[in-house]
Amino acid sequence: MISALTHLECSACGERYDADVPQNLCRDGKPLLVRYDLAAAGRTLTAQGLRDREPSLWRYAELLPLRDPANRVSLGETMTPLLPLPRTGACHDLDLYVKDEGLLPTASFKARGAAVGVSRAKELGITAFAMPTNGNAGGAWSAYAARAGMKAHIVMPQSAPHVNRLETMMTGADVHLVDGLISDAGKIVARAVARGGVFDASTLKEPYRIEGKKTMGFELAEQFGWSVPDVIVYPTGGGVGLIGIDKALRELQAIGLLDARMPRMVAVQSTGCAPIVRAFDASAKESVFWENARTVAFGITVPKPLGDAIVLEALYATNGTAIAVNDEAILAGQREISESDGVFVCPEGGATLAAAIALREQGWIRAGERVLLINTGSGLKYPDVPYAQPPLLVPSDDLPMSP
Ligand SMILES: Cc1ncc(COP(=O)(O)O)c(C=O)c1O
Ligand SMILES: [Zn+2]
Repeated sequence: MISALTHLECSACGERYDADVPQNLCRDGKPLLVRYDLAAAGRTLTAQGLRDREPSLWRYAELLPLRDPANRVSLGETMTPLLPLPRTGACHDLDLYVKDEGLLPTASFKARGAAVGVSRAKELGITAFAMPTNGNAGGAWSAYAARAGMKAHIVMPQSAPHVNRLETMMTGADVHLVDGLISDAGKIVARAVARGGVFDASTLKEPYRIEGKKTMGFELAEQFGWSVPDVIVYPTGGGVGLIGIDKALRELQAIGLLDARMPRMVAVQSTGCAPIVRAFDASAKESVFWENARTVAFGITVPKPLGDAIVLEALYATNGTAIAVNDEAILAGQREISESDGVFVCPEGGATLAAAIALREQGWIRAGERVLLINTGSGLKYPDVPYAQPPLLVPSDDLPMSP
């Protein structure tokens, strides 16, 4: 089980870069993607061989960038469950599944990017990094940095969920709050990096976070018995998870573990911040900065994703779509999955149900199609989300029971 990593390649111009020294963006300012010797990977990464491997993202070692397992920084990245949502699905004539990323360390899918990103940073000799975040990535990268004995400088909006602030501080990061959005936090990080001494670990400005997030794609393909659902609905901020899932499925195709059929990829955003949706509707190649971004699904408040061109390309190439849902529908979706099927999803997970319902009503999703929702985090991380009905105190000695 050794990494088949060969080099880095610009997502826009194709220029090659050495993977064994720290790298950020291409000369043209575009993200770098990690490339592998797929023929070599395919010789040992087989369905049969995988049966005996540990149930964590590290089981896909050939298609991960870490060269030496001794550099692995781990908090126990379990494979996350793929669960049918029978009651929620029946209610909307949908064959519905959820991949519940809330079970990972730090209770969100950001643990995947952090586990692989921090491990590879350690392998390349990096000892300190800085990054902007909407919260969960900061929590995850801070925890993995602590585990690695590395220094994390985290910059997040003042309005980010309190739990994210708490977890970054408790795991020892140097935390800064900004009166603004993740885009403002990004500018502060860029200035700090320019002064030197600290590595820029911003989304897509370092190449390895995608490699961690793509393991969602490996897992779901394996859990669906080496096939893919018809539709995957992804709550899109920076879009890294969507890019990663798309990349993973194509790598599995290349090594013969999947046939050529791709799922139709859906990017769901909030009506309060929908740059990808607006670009998709205009058949554009890139997005335009979204002014006054605001939504209850804080993780997807990204006014201008750096990887917008790659996200849009994945939507076009898979005959997918992009859709915006409002905050009311997001909260209703969160509550419905939680109440009907027992999976306490985050607001971003709620957005995926809202999108699936709307797309089914429009006929874009047809009856009987398998639809996978990606729940990117645990609902437990959002104690401030408004409850429809606060729990009642027992008024007397009798429990007022509803049927
Ligand atoms: C819970 C949650 N869902 C989704 C996202 C968006 O992730 P991506 O950058 O992969 O689009 C985030 C990012 O902060 C998040 O915290
Ligand atoms: Zn380039």
